[in-house]
Amino acid sequence: MENRVENHVVLGMEPPQNLVEITVDGKPVRAREGEKILAALLAQGIIVNRYTVKRGEPRGLFCGIGQCTDCAMVVDGKPNVRTCMTPVRAGMVIETQHGLGRRANGTE
Ligand code: FES
Repeated sequence: MENRVENHVVLGMEPPQNLVEITVDGKPVRAREGEKILAALLAQGIIVNRYTVKRGEPRGLFCGIGQCTDCAMVVDGKPNVRTCMTPVRAGMVIETQHGLGRRANGTE
């Protein structure tokens, strides 16, 4: 079940949007094309985006405007992508980032 506001008191009903499939930590997730990755994950109840380098502590949405890097994840093999600023595209592969993250070629 998705956790979204479909009929806002002030903004009203949301117009229909294209649904696409992305992969998050190996699992298929339905998202709305063009919405921010972070919004798609929150709608699915996914709140941890990365674990810190030193203590391995979980981080997720903090500023929501691309300033803090707490939402950084590995997107299509590229680490440190701010998911609150990055729109969803069909077929994206998204992974929880551990520490500095690893690129698809295995380097940090
Ligand atoms: S939540 Fe702060 S950069 Fe994304």
